[in-house]
Amino acid sequence: MSVSREHVLQALKKVTHPEKEKNIVRLNMVKDLTTEDGAVSFTLIVERPDTAFAKQAQAACTQVLREEIDPDLEVDVELDNEMISLGDDVGVSGGSGDGGGGGGQQKQQRPQLAENMVAVASGKGGVGKSTVAANLAVGLAEQGYSVGLLDSDIYGPSIPTMFGVENKKPRVNQNKQIVPLEAHGVRLLSMGFLVDQEKAVIWRGPMVTNALRQFLNDAAWGELEYLILDLPPGTGDAQLTIVQTVPLTGAVIVSTPQDVALADARKGVKMFEKVDVPVLGMVENMSYFTPPDLPDRKYYLFGRGGAKRLAQEMDVSFLGEVPIEQRVRESSDDGTPIVLDAPESASAEALAQMAERTDEQVAIRNADQSATQKVEILYE
Ligand SMILES: Nc1ncnc2c1ncn2[C@@H]1O[C@H](COP(=O)(O)OP(=O)(O)O)[C@@H](O)[C@H]1O
Ligand SMILES: [Mg+2]
Repeated sequence: MSVSREHVLQALKKVTHPEKEKNIVRLNMVKDLTTEDGAVSFTLIVERPDTAFAKQAQAACTQVLREEIDPDLEVDVELDNEMISLGDDVGVSGGSGDGGGGGGQQKQQRPQLAENMVAVASGKGGVGKSTVAANLAVGLAEQGYSVGLLDSDIYGPSIPTMFGVENKKPRVNQNKQIVPLEAHGVRLLSMGFLVDQEKAVIWRGPMVTNALRQFLNDAAWGELEYLILDLPPGTGDAQLTIVQTVPLTGAVIVSTPQDVALADARKGVKMFEKVDVPVLGMVENMSYFTPPDLPDRKYYLFGRGGAKRLAQEMDVSFLGEVPIEQRVRESSDDGTPIVLDAPESASAEALAQMAERTDEQVAIRNADQSATQKVEILYE
């Protein structure tokens, strides 16, 4: 019997930390996960491994895995506490108000702005990158996460419109930090708040990265479990610079089914591989069309299964296919992403599922990282 990592993490989400009231996967307590036929092993990160509490947590993991997967499953849960080899000046993760601190520090040594940072990228413009980013953010917020969305697409910042805040400007607090706007349960900042659309073209690379740094370092995001980054389309130097500026957990690549778009999506995967950012998966947008009066039909207008095949070929997860629906565009134009505006629609279901799968892939990445390597502080 083969056991998938997804399945194991799914099951372990049922184990909740009694005080923190969050599940152990979400708290990043599961590390070094390996699965084999009929066997699972991982390290459970606890504050003090020698306590009754830790032993209980260990037993609960074994029980849940056997209940959910197989009564005969071999389960090996090692208890460990996280080794953190950081200087004393590093605060607790997720804390805000650190205002940028020592500029000379390595990026890993500063407290993470968000527990997980996910870039949404595409090889081409107009494939639905912002639509995916907006619905990913809202989908994760619906799952109960604290979520920020940073629109770094200087040439077409469409996030403010998609969240109905295009006429608002973020304010600056007494600490001179930009305060993100909040809409549909998501904290937002956009390059669109800084520049006139007409003037956007004269912005050059360094200005964009400076603005981005400011948004990342000097904004009052508060505690974030997820920060979603809507990247400018393409895989050139501008994107590469941004990707290297931000300590990303991983990237989601959006493509449409056409060969040209797929060729660019392939370049996207390669760009992230080059800078060692894991690709969490690929989403195919505008996959098929179902005429409203023929609800059982699916017309694959641009060819079928292209992104899924590319994902397989490049060994990345496939996060789903989103149909073309008029309501997707209408919801965006009206300022409410479709997963909230029309959750029963096929595209909203696909996008909500995409958000769940992305979260799953993030959990897998986090569980892959060994306890001693991961620079993140769970306990004060
Ligand atoms: N699945 C879809 N069905 C219908 N329209 C869509 C879909 N995905 C995106 N759109 C529309 O296509 C246009 C481009 O999408 P957008 O997300 O802005 O792309 P990008 O950020 O890649 O340039 C927008 O008007 C958007 O509302
Ligand atoms: Mg866009």
